[in-house]
Amino acid sequence: MRHLLTLFDFSSDEIHRVLEIGNDLKSKLRTGERPSLLQGYIMGMLFEKPSLRTRVSFEALTGQLGGSSLFLGEDVGWGTREPIQDFVPILTSYLDVLVIRAKRHKDVREAIKYSRCPVINGLTDVAHPCQALADMMTVQELSLDLENTKIAFLGDSNNVTYSLAVICSKLGIQLSIASPAGYQFEDDFIQQLNQEAGRTVIEQTDDPRMAVEDAEFVYTDVWTSMGQEAENAQRLKEFADFQVNAMIMKKARKEARLLHCLPARRNEEVTADIIDSPASAVVEQAENRLHAQKGLVVWLLTGARKPVHV
Ligand code: CP
Ligand code: NVA
Repeated sequence: MRHLLTLFDFSSDEIHRVLEIGNDLKSKLRTGERPSLLQGYIMGMLFEKPSLRTRVSFEALTGQLGGSSLFLGEDVGWGTREPIQDFVPILTSYLDVLVIRAKRHKDVREAIKYSRCPVINGLTDVAHPCQALADMMTVQELSLDLENTKIAFLGDSNNVTYSLAVICSKLGIQLSIASPAGYQFEDDFIQQLNQEAGRTVIEQTDDPRMAVEDAEFVYTDVWTSMGQEAENAQRLKEFADFQVNAMIMKKARKEARLLHCLPARRNEEVTADIIDSPASAVVEQAENRLHAQKGLVVWLLTGARKPVHV
């Protein structure tokens, strides 16, 4: 049985396969085909934090493929009403796949230990692997020069950045991360990624202008993530130079596109004129959550055991 805690759990071939299944099902959906690959399967969704894209895309994809889903909010009391080791084996004995959005990454790791079905990380304080799968699907689709593409990420080295860095290192996509001092990854993590890639694909700097040089995609995320609200005022000051605006976009390739995992805060991490311009690819990127996760769920439930023919 396979789980997705972080993208370190998947080889590059497996990531390619997941995206391939997702792309295939995306083309089929465009022509009205919704193969019943998940008929009779039940997805549980255990969410400790708010969500629009993750929640709705998982529910929608399960329905489109003939399965059903069950949304479980905090009222089920995991970790409070009963401990994870009691709650998870029971819950997962009713289900075929469980998506968890948790405040603490270690809780998803622990849930995996006790789970009887595949578990998918739907965002933690450390990682957001489903977002990175959709990001990569979007880059592959929109890049004018995939072999030589470069992504610049400006902002916090957080959960979204972590998964983006892992997927870029696995697929050999250049990524330059610009974060203020104190909000960067440990050098060891960057080194580990580059070692696994066999060359330098991930760079880290505190200079946003340097990061965006020659970038085909400029990616950002909120400066204050869910759970960090008390730090908001401080973060607004510390990230002020890392805003994606017209001046920054001018330093990237002239055809550069904006990526953002959303939700966005206009005129904080990205100015309204950029997110609302034709350069913005955020809607395509968010739509790809549905298609990339379709690939993931189908692969986890069927392909991880036998070949999938969609
Ligand atoms: N990008 C993303 O995960 O969005 P939600 O928080 O709305 O699920
Ligand atoms: N970094 C953001 C991502 C939201 C999808 C957060 O954790 O709130």
